[in-house]
Amino acid sequence: MDALSYIIKKFKADITSPNLPIALHQINRTIMAQTLGELGFRVGVEVGVAEGLHAKVLCENIPNLKLHCVDIWNKYPGYEEYADPEDCFRQAHERLKPYKVIFHRQFSMDAVKDFDRGSLDFVYIDGAHDFRSVAEDIFEWSKRVRIGGIVFGHDYKHWRPWKSRNIIDVRPVVEAYCYAKNIHPWFELANDIKDKTFGPDSPGWMFVRQNKDKI
Ligand SMILES: C[S@@+](CC[C@H](N)C(=O)[O-])C[C@H]1O[C@@H](n2cnc3c(N)ncnc32)[C@H](O)[C@@H]1O
Repeated sequence: MDALSYIIKKFKADITSPNLPIALHQINRTIMAQTLGELGFRVGVEVGVAEGLHAKVLCENIPNLKLHCVDIWNKYPGYEEYADPEDCFRQAHERLKPYKVIFHRQFSMDAVKDFDRGSLDFVYIDGAHDFRSVAEDIFEWSKRVRIGGIVFGHDYKHWRPWKSRNIIDVRPVVEAYCYAKNIHPWFELANDIKDKTFGPDSPGWMFVRQNKDKI
């Protein structure tokens, strides 16, 4: 079964709903990783890895996964979420030792150049969350996913307090991108089941690449 039909059936999604995104319930990040495993996915990218918590969830739940881990693991103007990026890198390295991972310690927009169009089963986007970074990530990385593959990410939210650096622009970027690129259906991952790694979690977003996409 193709990925879109499989997901619609597994999560009982109502794709006749006129409202987008279509919510997927009874899900968390572990269940999503298991779903990619059930679909037989083998090669993917995580953009924004930090200590490797989610990368480990992917590796544990997707048999024989080859995971490219993309993260700058450094502070730069406009992004300072982690006090000690070097320690994050060390933790990711340690945590992901048992798995088939390739580290790309680069800016996302540099790393993406090393991947061919349509070469990936999935990409998970969770790097910087400001408007420009999310837009660059979704525009460029989506091209690298094959038809039938999955593009998904974390923090489907909009949080832009005045003068705060804690900006989350994921929601408006994903919405605009999906409308502009003729993507239908696309989904909000409710993350309504407590995850054993993350506990209560932010929602995510997701779409399956199709031939009709203007990507
Ligand atoms: C929210 S954390 C990732 C958390 C991880 N996905 C998880 O759930 O376990 C975001 C990461 O993105 C990285 N990052 C931010 N902007 C980036 C960029 N432009 N290129 C590469 N990595 C970036 C940061 O270094 C940070 O480690």
